[in-house]
Amino acid sequence: MTDDLITSEANTVGKSGSPVEGRTVLSVEDLKVDFLTEQGWVTVVDGVSFDVAAGTTLGIVGESGSGKTVTSMATMGLVPSPPGRVSHGRAMLGDVDLVGISARSLEEHRGADIAMIFQEPMTSLNPAFTIGEQIAEVVRRHRGASRSEARRRAVEVLDLVGIPAAADRLGAYPHEFSGGMRQRVMIAMALACEPDVLIADEPTTALDVTVQAQILDLFRDLQAELGMAVVFITHDLGVVADICDRVAVMYAGQIVEEGDVFEIFADPQHPYTQGLLEAMPQVGSRGSQLSSIPGSPPEPWAMPSGCRFAPRCEHVTDACREQAIELVEIGLQRTVRCIRADEIGVAR
Ligand SMILES: Nc1ncnc2c1ncn2[C@@H]1O[C@H](COP(=O)(O)OP(=O)(O)O)[C@@H](O)[C@H]1O
Ligand SMILES: [Mg+2]
Repeated sequence: MTDDLITSEANTVGKSGSPVEGRTVLSVEDLKVDFLTEQGWVTVVDGVSFDVAAGTTLGIVGESGSGKTVTSMATMGLVPSPPGRVSHGRAMLGDVDLVGISARSLEEHRGADIAMIFQEPMTSLNPAFTIGEQIAEVVRRHRGASRSEARRRAVEVLDLVGIPAAADRLGAYPHEFSGGMRQRVMIAMALACEPDVLIADEPTTALDVTVQAQILDLFRDLQAELGMAVVFITHDLGVVADICDRVAVMYAGQIVEEGDVFEIFADPQHPYTQGLLEAMPQVGSRGSQLSSIPGSPPEPWAMPSGCRFAPRCEHVTDACREQAIELVEIGLQRTVRCIRADEIGVAR
């Protein structure tokens, strides 16, 4: 069923064991998102850029409020307007800019080329329809499949995500499933049209640890099988260590460090990344909370004019507060937003 998606030109193998073509399928460029609030327009995502290659998983990690969800919404053309607006940037899926296109053409891409799984499945599944109807609807809309073809595809994908006796479950309603099974249904729906890109926003956060482990295993397997480009959003570095090839660390609406997951874990350059790693009970464990860095992130309407992490940083100097800090390249596909990275990197 999915053989056609596995590239024959694969020449390297990603962490997940999946075929990696190295071809960038999603390229987000300098994305800027504002919201109109009581404080006026505030910028909550400020110049975010990243590429995701086929067959690889990019983790976006950061504390609550750092702009992960808004980044993914903007990438999917889903920023609610009002109160939001994408004031700058592009999200290129091939040669299509998802930020700039009409709602109608966006609808053609969503689900078919790029799909999203949200944190809370009950907000995206319709309680009034059976899961069979909902999956079949997606398939009919995007593939022009007949009723029976769409039904067959629904069984196929429910089977793929490990729903037992899938054919018998088509007539069940969302509330009849457990949290973990509902999240599998969401994944099945997202995969039904074999998207090139899958964005998953904290898809396991609401689940207990055992179910979370199962869903993460499922992600790894599916990616190996389908060769998708995955953006996996999480606040949990344990999850990143588990399933990501690359990681972008977000703080206060910006990426502060990005690179290969092994490099970042072995040699974090940004004090915030270092703090996150130190806050982890142990590499590979799950469910850790990013809470032990003293202080809290700035509010979007009160961003420090220099380094945004400066108020919480143990390495801060006057120079850090003088002007906005740029994201600079420090190696192959490795960036960091810290003017003291050299010094403090050596100190570790
Ligand atoms: N509809 C909205 N109106 C105003 N501010 C919003 C809205 N949605 C998100 N924000 C703000 O944008 C920032 C980033 O939020 P979000 O992307 O949800 O963070 P994360 O997913 O990293 O926890 C937060 O400061 C949040 O308050
Ligand atoms: Mg979020």
